[in-house]
Amino acid sequence: MQTKLRGRDMITTQEWTKDEIDTVMSVAMDLKRKRALGEPHAYLRDQVLAMLFFFSSTRTRASFEAGMAQLGGHAQFIDSTTTQISHGDTAKEIGEILGRYNDGLAIRQCDWGVGNRYIRDVAAASRVPILNMQCDVYHPFQILADLMTIIEKKGDPRGLTINVSYAYASSYQKPMSVPQSLILLMTRYGMNVRLTRPPEFKLMPGIVQQAHDNARQSGGSLVVLDDFDAGFENADVVYPKSWGCMLTTEDMEESAEISKQYTDWICDERRMSLAKKDAIYMHCLPADRNIEVTDGVIDGPNSVVYDEAENRLHVQKAVMALTM
Ligand code: CP
Repeated sequence: MQTKLRGRDMITTQEWTKDEIDTVMSVAMDLKRKRALGEPHAYLRDQVLAMLFFFSSTRTRASFEAGMAQLGGHAQFIDSTTTQISHGDTAKEIGEILGRYNDGLAIRQCDWGVGNRYIRDVAAASRVPILNMQCDVYHPFQILADLMTIIEKKGDPRGLTINVSYAYASSYQKPMSVPQSLILLMTRYGMNVRLTRPPEFKLMPGIVQQAHDNARQSGGSLVVLDDFDAGFENADVVYPKSWGCMLTTEDMEESAEISKQYTDWICDERRMSLAKKDAIYMHCLPADRNIEVTDGVIDGPNSVVYDEAENRLHVQKAVMALTM
């Protein structure tokens, strides 16, 4: 267990050692137990987290805000559109100023080619920890919750097969931060990771390379497939979700047109039957129901999506309690 995490940013899990992430898992399990038992755990009394959102959210906002209250502190919600950012407040000013008012600064900025750079620019100017609530490249808290859920449902992840797959959605061209963060973290835990996607829906080559390196070090594996059904075969964990093909085109309308070739990439009961009988179905949510996944699967016996969403609360509290 690592006990010297005060002041650390969480921008990507890749910048934390495995031992440090193990510590997050351990503290998150403890905080989950404490909440279930009604044991107070006000480790951040009088502390304030600023949550700056450039993009909408259900789970992230609600779980960070609830988490700070349960830790004895407060979270202030800041919608970027009601700030002076569009009138000139720079990333440096946000880091300097909000960093002086608060004890932690959490940011969601998912714009392609912008979000991660913005968060890192704020971090460079901030005296308090920066927490990435999702950018164009990473979604670290989602993936920590996913790891916790896999451990709870399946035990030791080593040797398990996870299918991180594209699925079609019509609502919008979603960031690639979830599949990228999944392949990065699950390869560090010795899992056999399948990245299944149509040819146009490649992930960032540097991220895929890091995932290969992680797998080599952990004894896991990473294979890239383009056959939707093959990705499900005999998998222990299936995680089919949509993302935009930003490496093929940065025009979101064109990306939506390309994605229409893949409307049959829906996770349905037949696909689930290709996985192991006790395979778990995961999704970060929101999902496009009956487009990305059928009601029968997402509401079915293999789905763990609500436990997965709950674990956002526990891992975020763990990271905040350790870093702030
Ligand atoms: N999974 C996730 O980040 O949910 P929100 O977009 O609702 O925060």
